[in-house]
Amino acid sequence: MNREVKLFLAIESIIFILLVIAESKLYNIFSFKIDIIFFTITLLILSNLSLFLNFQSSTSTSISLPVLIPAMTMLNPFWITIIAFVGTSELSIKKNNIPWFKFLFNRCMFGIAAGLAAIVYDLSLSFISPNIIISLFFASITYFIINIGMVYAIIYLSGEKQKISYNVFLQELVKSIFISYFLGLVLYFSYTQFGKVFFLLVIVLIYITRDFFFSRIQVLNTFTQIIESFLKVIDSKDHYTEGHCERVGNYTKKVCNKININPSKKEKIINMAKIHDIGKIYVDDEILKSDDLLSDEEFKEMKKHSEYGYELLKDIDMLNDDLEIILHHHEFYNGNGYPEGIKEKEIPLGSRILNICDSFDVMTTGRSYKKALNKEETIREFKRCAGKQFDPELVDELIELIKNGELDGSFENKNI
Ligand SMILES: [Fe+2]
Ligand SMILES: [Fe+2]
Repeated sequence: MNREVKLFLAIESIIFILLVIAESKLYNIFSFKIDIIFFTITLLILSNLSLFLNFQSSTSTSISLPVLIPAMTMLNPFWITIIAFVGTSELSIKKNNIPWFKFLFNRCMFGIAAGLAAIVYDLSLSFISPNIIISLFFASITYFIINIGMVYAIIYLSGEKQKISYNVFLQELVKSIFISYFLGLVLYFSYTQFGKVFFLLVIVLIYITRDFFFSRIQVLNTFTQIIESFLKVIDSKDHYTEGHCERVGNYTKKVCNKININPSKKEKIINMAKIHDIGKIYVDDEILKSDDLLSDEEFKEMKKHSEYGYELLKDIDMLNDDLEIILHHHEFYNGNGYPEGIKEKEIPLGSRILNICDSFDVMTTGRSYKKALNKEETIREFKRCAGKQFDPELVDELIELIKNGELDGSFENKNI
């Protein structure tokens, strides 16, 4: 823990204590209700049920606010602060090896965020709108700006600056606010209209659907790991392509970020890039290992790898929408590629991106029969093939990345 983080934690703890003192003066702390225990225990159970509870997880964050939303309408900000502070405690702290300062950071963060959100709710009810729904919205915004803002501040101060993107911060914020606000309203109406039992039933329902969603992500992660293991097999069969798919995945990520496509599409394209040559598993070892230029016959066999890859994975439901990207990753913009000879925008965007990233790796790595190209030669080669093999618009983007130095690492020590 560096000095900045220590200072941040100290300031955060002081703010928390000052907030509790101020609230205890402003509000009636003796207005004890059974709801205080009910919400604290509910939150405690939920915080500790989560399988994905960790320091940076927004999962625990997003389930806390929905429970606190109905609580805000019944209890004063002092009690909301205390409920959030106590109720979000991870009792499995020892088992998960969470250091004490992260534990303290989390407690104070939830306390401050919930306390200030409850104050905003009260102020909004009195001065902006007597409407509970509108005031709860302002409270939700306050909660997440403080909550996510503090998490990002601590990551920033920990020196992990490169992991923070302003866009990701905003996306996280907007997503968290809307999902939690909506769930919070559902819980609010469940509690006020149908009582505690119905409220708990709705929480169980939220958990079932959430676990369903996360188990899908887990399956996908496991699947990607299996595929990556397959690729290690290909790498070991063919030393010239060692690390090729991984590098192509990285280049694809850079190009996707540059052209600003939507996050879920981007993720699919990058995943496909990482496994784009999976079909080489079926290509004869002799051909893969060959140090010489391939004969026509051998080249014909090698060309089949994009279809092999498609065939291999097409029965997997969660992938079959994206496999077109693999199938067409050797199509040419002018229609002279394979396997189908489609051209221009008929070729899926992912395949066009993959094609330039794939070629970029081949050019900058070199082969036994061809020296690796330097920066200027690579740019020249891409310009020469723009509109023939490559989508000219994407070539412009790649050349800009090269000129900005974002791909400089690829030009170092690559002359095999
Ligand atoms: Fe390929
Ligand atoms: Fe490739």
